[in-house]
Amino acid sequence: MARIKFIAGNWKMNTTKAVAVELAKGVAKGAPDGVQAGVAVPFVYIDAVGQAIAGSKVLLGAQDAYFEKPGAFTGEISVDMLKDLGVKFCLTGHSERRHVIGESPELISKKAHAIYGAGLILVHCIGEKLEQRDGNKTLEVCKAQLHELSSKMDDPDRLVVAYEPVWAIGTGRTATDAQAQEVHAFIRAELGRMFSTDYAARVRIQYGGSMKPDNAKGLMSQPDVDGGLIGGAALKADQFLAIVNAGK
Ligand code: 13P
Repeated sequence: MARIKFIAGNWKMNTTKAVAVELAKGVAKGAPDGVQAGVAVPFVYIDAVGQAIAGSKVLLGAQDAYFEKPGAFTGEISVDMLKDLGVKFCLTGHSERRHVIGESPELISKKAHAIYGAGLILVHCIGEKLEQRDGNKTLEVCKAQLHELSSKMDDPDRLVVAYEPVWAIGTGRTATDAQAQEVHAFIRAELGRMFSTDYAARVRIQYGGSMKPDNAKGLMSQPDVDGGLIGGAALKADQFLAIVNAGK
C-alpha cells in the first residue's frame, strides 16, 4: 500500500491570533486531495484555528504535550486537553525542544508514549547537529533518538518520524536529496529491526529543514521521503500550499 504523503506546517512560536486564523483559512481553502496537510499550531491559537479549518481536509496539530494526566502541573498542557480541542497529531523531540529548551531523551520518550497512547498521530522528530554529522555520528544519533519509541506503538499509521538535521533548520541550508534519502532509508531499516519490515513500510518519514517550494519536489521524490515538516515556509499559505502540492 502506497504511503500518503503528510506535509505539516510547524508554526513554532509565531503568528498572532488573527494571523493564525487567516493562515489556517488559506491553507484549508487550498489543500488538495491525494496528500495530507496539517498545521501544528501554538497552544493558545489551537481552538481558533480548529474552528477556522473545521470541515476541511487539514489536520489540526500541536507542537508539544505533557505526559501526565490532568493534575497539578503548572503551565503544562495534557494530551486530553489537546484532544478536547480536536487535535489529531502532536510533535515530540523537536530539535528546539531538545537543544534550546533542554528536554532529555527520557522526557521526550514519556511524551511520545503519552501522545501515541492517547490515540493521536505522533510526529517524532529526530536529527543530528552539525558537529555530529561532521563526526560521522548521524546514523548513531538518529538511531538513539528513534529508540525513544517502543514496540507498544503498534499502529504504523499513527507513527510519523520527522528527520530534521539540526544544521538545516532555519538556516536555508537544506540536506541534498541524496543526504535525506540516505538517512530516511536508514530510519526505515531501523524501524524494521525495532518493529517489523511490514510495519516500517507503512510509517511516514517526513523531512524537515529549510524545505521550500523550490526544493520540495526533489526531496519528496526520494523513495523514503514521505512528506515534510515545514517551519518558515509554512507561515505563508501560498508557499506552504506549493510545498503540499509538490507532494502529490
Ligand atoms: P525551517 O523550515 O524553518 O527550516 O524549520 C524546519 C522545522 O524545524 C520544522 O519543524
